[in-house]
Amino acid sequence: MNNDVNKEQFMESAGKMAKELAQFTSNMNFDEETMLDILNDSLMPVEQFFANYNCAIMEIETKFKVLNEQFSLKYDGNPIESIHSRVKDYDSIMRKMIRKKIPRTLDAIEENINDIAGVRVICSFVDDIYRLADCLLQQDDIILIRTKDYIKNPKPTGYRSLHLLVAVPIFLENEKKLVKVEVQLRTIAMDFWASLEHKIRYKKNISKEMLDKLSHELTDCANISASLDSRMQNVRNLLLSETQSKSNDRREM
Ligand code: GTP
Ligand code: MG
Repeated sequence: MNNDVNKEQFMESAGKMAKELAQFTSNMNFDEETMLDILNDSLMPVEQFFANYNCAIMEIETKFKVLNEQFSLKYDGNPIESIHSRVKDYDSIMRKMIRKKIPRTLDAIEENINDIAGVRVICSFVDDIYRLADCLLQQDDIILIRTKDYIKNPKPTGYRSLHLLVAVPIFLENEKKLVKVEVQLRTIAMDFWASLEHKIRYKKNISKEMLDKLSHELTDCANISASLDSRMQNVRNLLLSETQSKSNDRREM
């Protein structure tokens, strides 16, 4: 649960844009000072663009951390195992922009790319996912744009997670801005599967037959992992009802 990776990715993306711009302006005959002004002026909106997403991630992360504390007081144990956040890197934004034929402006990118800020929340149990999602969405500064429940309706690959596309306000020097964040909530088992599947899917030099075979195998693994989640949930429910009835007994004495 830290922001170091975000900052690193942010700096890398800003750096790439600076290089692109420097290359562009170096073909023109500006003196050093003018060039510096152009570079700073042109980069400012880009830096602000990435900074906004970084701030939105901080807001969402804090909300989950607060809920984690609250839940751990009320129930035993923390519902959140870990939180991983990232701002989509420059190359991935550009690739998506080209793929989706989005005009090359910051406004168009902001409007059309929903996962520039991503927060992944890894929970212990499936019911923690829904409880955390409900609590987040109840907060009056959070706007729900879209829900995709790939737990109730898994993808054909076997992928499971609850996706919430939300907008969160960030308060800047002179303005309040709503920023979109894609929140993915999953269990440890769902995350284990998704991470391995992602690695395998992007492996190069695999034949079509092998890829088909692996896809079947992976979908099978996803189902096994889902049934493991449901058994773990049952274990927890049994444990909870046992503690509940013990405490009721004590109260009656
Ligand atoms: P795009 O981001 O443009 O693909 O559209 P979308 O956000 O509407 O798609 P979706 O709701 O499917 O969410 C995409 C994200 O979910 C990806 O970036 C992955 O993190 C995750 N995801 C979706 N399907 C899979 C899958 O089959 N395997 C794995 N490992 N991750 C998946
Ligand atoms: Mg996406």
